[in-house]
Amino acid sequence: MVHRIRYDYTDQNKMAAIKIAPSFLTADLARLADEVRAVEEAGADYLHLDVMDGHFVPPITFGALVVEAMRKVTRLPLDVHLMIERPERQIEAFAQAGSAILNVHAETCSHLHRVLQQIKALGCRAGVCLNPGTPLSAIKEALEEADQVMVMGVNPGWGGQSLLPNTLPKVRRLRALLDERGLTPDIEIDGGVKVHNAAACAQAGATVLVAGSAVFNDEASVGENMAALRQALAGVETRA
Ligand code: DX5
Ligand code: ZN
Repeated sequence: MVHRIRYDYTDQNKMAAIKIAPSFLTADLARLADEVRAVEEAGADYLHLDVMDGHFVPPITFGALVVEAMRKVTRLPLDVHLMIERPERQIEAFAQAGSAILNVHAETCSHLHRVLQQIKALGCRAGVCLNPGTPLSAIKEALEEADQVMVMGVNPGWGGQSLLPNTLPKVRRLRALLDERGLTPDIEIDGGVKVHNAAACAQAGATVLVAGSAVFNDEASVGENMAALRQALAGVETRA
């Protein structure tokens, strides 16, 4: 059923059907607690934390210790994106660190179905991510176990890239597949989400938008950038 996104200027955070999850890759990491406060005040729904291991993706960012430190300075749910090999060896540490959603890449899991079950047994929501080059068929048999499916809009590793053209058609096909099966996990788009394409992402079927460089940049404040994203999503026809 298609219906209008519930949008209310008086309480944007609670009423918006589309969730915004700022990613901190382009934030000022020396002032992390201040940056967290800024996105909280601007009405972020989740904090999106990008964990990279230098193997699955070239850069190394941070691990469970930093997630635990972030947990202490916010009440927002932590949406933790594990861009790491062998994530099954790390999920317990990240769950204990206070992750609300633990997202693993299908490309890193020989036993995806079991890993998703293990994440839920640890009390977290289970997310599965797909690189741009990975087909939906890679997760088809494990969809029942997923609370969230993350479609990468860029090849992971760096913030500030442009949304790849195959992303929205893939999200539309995922939405159709989920509808066909009567499944309702969140669909998250990560990478390349900007003010100019946020509405199209929502219309394609996304329910969570990760925004890194669209939120943390030199052009405007975090508050102004978040407001511009909300404005772009106002009145968008979507499926919630
Ligand atoms: C990419 C990360 C994304 C990225 C998003 O590897 O997983 O979360 O930081 O940044 P933007 O929104 O700038 O593409
Ligand atoms: Zn991410």
